Amino acid sequence: MNILLLGSGGREHALAWKLKQSPKTGRLFVAPGNAGTADVAENLPFGATDFEAIKKACLENDIQMVVVGPEEPLVKGIYDFFRQDSALQHIPLIGPSREGARLEGSKDFAKAFMQRHGIPTAAYRSFTAAEEAEAADYLGTLQAPYVLKADGLAAGKGVLILDKLEEARRELGAILDEGRFGEAGNKVVIESFLKGIECSVFLLTDGEHYLTLPVAKDYKRLGEGGTGPNTGGMGAVSPVPFADKAFLQKVDERISRPTVEGLRAEGIDYKGFIFLGLMNVDGDPYVIEYNCRMGDPETQVVMPRICNDLVVLLEAVTSGTLDRHTLIKDPHAAVTVVLASGGYPGTYAKGLPITGIPEAVPGDFIAFHAATTGKPGDLRTNGGRVLSVSANGSDFHEARNRAYEVAAGIHFENIYYRKDIGLDL
Ligand code: AMP
Ligand code: GLY
Repeated sequence: MNILLLGSGGREHALAWKLKQSPKTGRLFVAPGNAGTADVAENLPFGATDFEAIKKACLENDIQMVVVGPEEPLVKGIYDFFRQDSALQHIPLIGPSREGARLEGSKDFAKAFMQRHGIPTAAYRSFTAAEEAEAADYLGTLQAPYVLKADGLAAGKGVLILDKLEEARRELGAILDEGRFGEAGNKVVIESFLKGIECSVFLLTDGEHYLTLPVAKDYKRLGEGGTGPNTGGMGAVSPVPFADKAFLQKVDERISRPTVEGLRAEGIDYKGFIFLGLMNVDGDPYVIEYNCRMGDPETQVVMPRICNDLVVLLEAVTSGTLDRHTLIKDPHAAVTVVLASGGYPGTYAKGLPITGIPEAVPGDFIAFHAATTGKPGDLRTNGGRVLSVSANGSDFHEARNRAYEVAAGIHFENIYYRKDIGLDL
């Protein structure tokens, strides 16, 4: 079957690489893709939210399945767009409906959903600009540090964690009155701080049944030892030693099952990935956030650890028969290291020549492309997170060493990467 994958990051290269391995895959297209996806698929020259261009490409290329990488098209309702268009209705799309995508698109919606279904999460209240005085009072009832979240999508920057009450109240004003996060901050969620260690659990659901994919941990801060600004993610590992069997059992009972059952009970159409951003608080899981898609760079360690044919699983999502499948995990450890442009997540140069990317060795390593352009022989940087070097090993030590060996051979001006991915484990 011909498949169209939407998106352009390291996550999409990893998904394309995995989809390509299926004997069921005919022609594979990625829109807009990057220089890495061009290696395994045909890139199409339009963005992941250009619904009319997506429609045209689906019809021209006899697309039989659409897989959505990033959240934006989902939150904008691409699933509903397909279901409501008579020319597209027959094409299954992997991703939730607009309503389901609100789990990521509105933090207030996600918190209320968890409350309705008894899913453990930090205590919270949400406020609009008209309720700023109440919000300031509520902050006064909490202990430091204070957690403020813009309700809407804010490109991963909408969460503030502040040590001082005065500072928290000032930021509250900046969000509600001064539009610090634009429309995303029309409402603000204030929640209590959870102390623990984070990990990411991914579900693939057909709306009734679900499979739990390999657990991962990403490294969000720019600097070593978890210092410096937040980023999209500077590396990831899978599995996660502290997410042991007992912990994952609790995740399943307290979070995964009630989430999927809750969506179904509320009549929300959801056929796709659910990303559970979790905090392990003394062995108990709490939801920090939901995302309606896979994680980046977590996908770059999750996909290499799935032995199943991904297309077979996605077909089962479409037909509602995921209960007939079990996930087969590769027992190896996987580590990915993100090679970024110097200056990221602030300003950085683009268009710099990249050299030294070695040919992937199956079962050993692969350099996924995240923001690259050009052709082999003339590859250029095209964004902040440029490459994501994933390696496997019999343990973390081996996987890390391999990933860093490969990374050391890759060059572009002002390359930056953390040297401590997986070291804390
Ligand atoms: P989010 O964008 O919701 O993933 O939040 C960004 C980061 O803020 C998370 O990865 C956590 O590290 C942190 N965070 C968010 N909410 C809380 C909370 N209630 N307690 C502690 N840390 C939090
Ligand atoms: N790595 C975190 C995310 O994809 O949102």
